[in-house]
Order: sequence, then C-alpha cells, then structure tokens
Amino acid sequence: MSTEKTVLVTGGAGYIGSHAVLALARAGVKVVVLDNLVYGHREATEWLHGVELYTGDIGNRELLRRIFAEHPIDAVMHFAAYAYVGESVTNPGKYYLNNVSATLVLLDEMVAAGILNFVFSSTCATYGVPVKLPLTEDHSQIPINPYGQTKLMVEKILADFDRAHGLKSVCFRYFNAAGADPEGRIGEMHDPETHLIPLVLDAASGTREFISIFGTDYETPDGTCIRDYIHVADLADAHLLGLSFLESEKRSMSFNLGNEQGTSVREIIDAAVRVTGKEVPVREADRREGDPPILVGSSALAERTLGWKPQFGDIETIVRHAWRWHQSKAWARPVSE
Ligand code: UFG
Repeated sequence: MSTEKTVLVTGGAGYIGSHAVLALARAGVKVVVLDNLVYGHREATEWLHGVELYTGDIGNRELLRRIFAEHPIDAVMHFAAYAYVGESVTNPGKYYLNNVSATLVLLDEMVAAGILNFVFSSTCATYGVPVKLPLTEDHSQIPINPYGQTKLMVEKILADFDRAHGLKSVCFRYFNAAGADPEGRIGEMHDPETHLIPLVLDAASGTREFISIFGTDYETPDGTCIRDYIHVADLADAHLLGLSFLESEKRSMSFNLGNEQGTSVREIIDAAVRVTGKEVPVREADRREGDPPILVGSSALAERTLGWKPQFGDIETIVRHAWRWHQSKAWARPVSE
C-alpha cells in the first residue's frame, strides 16, 4: 500500500476502529479519525504519531466538508455506530438516527466530494436466527433486533449508492470481536460493558462478584450459547485487505469475518480460568432475550478473495491478549521520534 494514501476512519477511537487505525498506521497509511468520543477514547489513537483526530458526529455535514477539504481522503472506513443490541430494542430511534440517518449524511458528503471507496462494519446480527450453519454470505438476512436492522439497511443503501454513484464498498460482517492488541497497547473498554469475555475477566480479577451464564438449557453440547470469537487484530488486518480489494477490483462485496469455530460460554469461562490461573465464580441465569443458540460463520469467501486468514484463531490466545489488556488498561504512550 502506498504511503500517500489517506483514510478517514469514523469511530476510530472505539474498540475495533482503534485497532484498524493501528494497523493502517503501521502499514504507512495516513489516518484521519472522526469520533464523537461518546463511547470512544481519545487515548486509543492519540499516542500514534501522525494520526489526526476530529471530535464530532458523522452526521455533521459542515465538519465532514471541512475534513474532506483539509485532507485528500482516498477511502472511508466506517466503524462509528451504536452497538448495544439490548438498547437498540428499548431505544430504536437512537439506533436508526445514528447508524442509518447519520451514515446517509456521511455517504452523501462522500459522493459530493468524489470519495468512492467505503469499508463498512456490518455484523452477523444481520442474518438473524440461522437456518443453516456455518453462516455463509448468501444466508437470508432477517435481523431480529433494531441494531441488526440498522446494519442491514446500510448494506442495502450501499448497494443503491454503488448503482447510482459508483460508490464501491466492502461490508464486513463481524462475528464476536474479542481480544486486544497482541502488544498490549490498546484494547476493549466499553462503558457499560456487556460482552462476555471482559465480564468473565472482571469475575476472575474480582472486580465483579460472578459471571452470569445466560441460559444453560440450549441445545448445545454443554447447554450454553455458542459464538464465533474473532481476534480484533485479525479484524483490523481484514480492513487493510478490504481497502486493497477496493483499489484493485473496483467492485462491492460483503464478507463474513469469523474464526469458523464455535466456542460455548462455558468454554470461554474455562479458557479464562486457564489463562488467568484464577477462579471464575459463576451463576446460572435465565436465557437473555434475542440470543440465538449458535452463531458460527464461514469465512471461506474472505480467505479466497482477500487472502485473509486469522492469525490468532486459538481461543486461549484471544483470552490471553484480552487478559493482558484487562490487567493494565493502560493506553500506549506517544513515542517521540
Ligand atoms: N453472555 C453470558 N453472560 C454475560 C454476557 C454474555 O452468558 O454476562 C453470553 C451471551 O448470552 C452470548 C455470549 O455470552 O451467548 C456472547 O455474548 P456477548 O454479549 O459477548 O456477544 P453477542 O453475541 O450477544 O453480541 C455480539 C456483538 C454484537 C453483535 C452480535 C452478533 O456484541 O454487536 O455479537 O451476534 F451484534
């Protein structure tokens, strides 16, 4: 990838976005971040030399015009979104406004500025309840919550923008993002935290009394839900490949990004016990509404088309990197040149 490339990363101060910013910066790409810092953390990218942060909303036309005027943006990676499934059910308006309406403003301004390459953070939640496993990209997309709906709507909008304006996009449907930068410089820091692995690690370190297992009567080998956990650094690498794909192929495509391996809630807890060497107190609880029993994806298309192959597929490695970050939660510091 040439060093003259400039990429705008929306949500670049968030969990997955900041790992993509790191991967881009390491590849010699100039990165401009747009993040409103509602859920993101300034510290996640400010230590990286040459990364410029604009604090604001993706739906702010004036700000977008200013960024596009001030930088020769070649492509946009769009991570900025609200991503709490439960909240999307109780407050759908917030999700449709931010994830769909504000994204439309971003796309509109991109087209006006002649920026026609877009990498989009979609989700396996666009599939809804699987009728066939592992999930492939041609599986029906019938989301069961507003969060998944918003992501699917953007996928559809992108198809229309390609036809109408030639805006090319890669949609990545993530499975369960997990882990942290293998070198411990950045990691996951959600408030509130709802994700399994950080909560299990809270229970291991004693900052939380116990981890609730949401449902032990699923039709799975140990009765708990199975997910496909994918290392956040592997997700970040895929984004670089997605960008190269857009540059060379000049066409739009959607890809699953997962490990092709199912891990149950109990297996995550067992891995955490092995990695941390600590007890993880557990309470069995009722099922959480809207949780499909098993979500496992096929990433064969990304492998075949992009040459993507997860480097950190082993669940213990994922949990180990998450644990290292969890113990320090110390953002990397700027390195002087
Ligand atoms: N779980 C527990 N106890 C907890 C938290 C989670 O048992 O305290 C279970 C859940 O029931 C689920 C599994 O652990 O079976 C993983 O739950 P997460 O909340 O970590 O992740 P989800 O699979 O619910 O959600 C993730 C992303 C969403 C995305 C979704 C797609 O966070 O953004 O995957 O399925 F939409």
